[in-house]
Formats: sequence, C-alpha cells, structure tokens
Amino acid sequence: MDLRESLNWRYAVKKYGKEKVADADLQEIIEAIGLSASSAGMQPYRIFVVKDTNLRKELGEGSFNPQITEASDLLVFAAVDRIDQAFIDNYIGYTAEIRGIAAAQLAEFKKSLQLHLLGRTPEENFTWAARQAYIALGTGIIAAAALKVDATPMEGFDNEKFDRLLGLSEKGLRSVVLLALGYRDEANDFYAKFKKVRLPKEELVTII
Ligand SMILES: Cc1cc2nc3c(=O)[nH]c(=O)nc-3n(C[C@H](O)[C@H](O)[C@H](O)COP(=O)(O)O)c2cc1C
Repeated sequence: MDLRESLNWRYAVKKYGKEKVADADLQEIIEAIGLSASSAGMQPYRIFVVKDTNLRKELGEGSFNPQITEASDLLVFAAVDRIDQAFIDNYIGYTAEIRGIAAAQLAEFKKSLQLHLLGRTPEENFTWAARQAYIALGTGIIAAAALKVDATPMEGFDNEKFDRLLGLSEKGLRSVVLLALGYRDEANDFYAKFKKVRLPKEELVTII
C-alpha cells in the first residue's frame, strides 16, 4: 500500500473493535514518533502509553470520546511545561554524547538556545513545546496508517484530570493531545463509510 492510499484509508475512528494491536506494530509506531522532527531537535514532550485498563476507564469517564477507553492502546502526548537552563544543559550534554564530541563544541548552539528559549515566558515555551508534540502526533498518525493500524487523534479530554491521574505535573509536563490506536469496528462506526472532506488543492495550495 503506498503512502497516499494509506492516508486515504485512515480516518479518525470513533468506534473500535476488540482486536489488540500487536506489540511489534505498537513499537514501530513509537519508533516513528521518536524520529519526528522537532524545533532545534529538542523533543520537548514525552509520550505515555497507558496500559492500565482501570486507569483507561477512569481517564475516559465523562469524555465524549469512548476511544480513550475502548481502543487497543492509548498514547498521551505531554509537553514540557517549563524550559530552563537544566533542560538546555541536558540536551547539549546528550547531543555531545551521541555525536561523540565535546560539549564545548556546541557552545554557540547552546548560546542560541539560551537566547531564544530563556528569553520567552514559560507559557510561550509551553506553546512551543506543544506544537512540537503535535508534529510527533502527526508522525504517529502516518506511521499507524502505513501499518494499517487505525488511529484517532483527540483533543477532547480533560487535561487537568489526565495530568493528575498520570502524575504529569510532578514531571514538569502537561497533557496536550491523545492518540488512540486499534482496529475500527466498521459495522458500528458511523464514520467508517464517510467520504473524506478535504479542501480542493487550489484553495489549499498557492503556487507563487
Ligand atoms: C488535533 C486534533 C484533535 C482532534 N480531536 C478529536 C476528538 O477529540 N475526537 C474525535 O473523534 N476526533 C478528533 N479529531 C479527528 C478530526 O475530527 C478528524 O481528523 C477530521 O475530521 C478529519 O477527518 P479524518 O481524520 O477522519 O480524515 C482530532 C483531530 C486532530 C488533528
């Protein structure tokens, strides 16, 4: 199946069947998410794979998205809520280690990160971090489609409740978006047969 076919095949599933996603496929999707591009490469977000079924039930209670509880798997994308000197130092140290160079060689890069990130308000940095998490979400959606695993991106959830139940605040994180994974229950999903609604290319794209 080529990429475009996969993207046409996918839709934001509302009703999942009971079939579980194989662990190898789940790992492949997580690998792809990990390979996402991010601003300055900093990946200022973390992914939580919620396995605990009781917790899934509690997280889904009161939400209009039954997928939170019913899908095979649930990924929570949580953005870093405070970028500080330590976060930058860790990233520089890690980059130096991976590339086998001295951290001092990254001094200019570090300076520019400090200038840009530490000069902004915590909320501005959180917004930036959340944007990076959405890019990772997009990668996850595409990776799932390529594997013929169904997926639903979701903003319809109680962020504060997720932060509390997953202990995100203590980790300096805030939940921003979810990705449910599983297999569509085609017979019971009203949306399964809908045609995709997308803008005509002429409206979406301007060639200058
Ligand atoms: C950031 C984001 C948040 C979304 N939130 C929800 C949601 O809470 N519940 C839901 O069922 N679908 C949600 N969707 C799915 C969109 O409604 C869906 O992607 C859009 O209507 C296009 O249709 P398609 O993805 O099925 O082709 C969300 C999509 C995105 C990208």
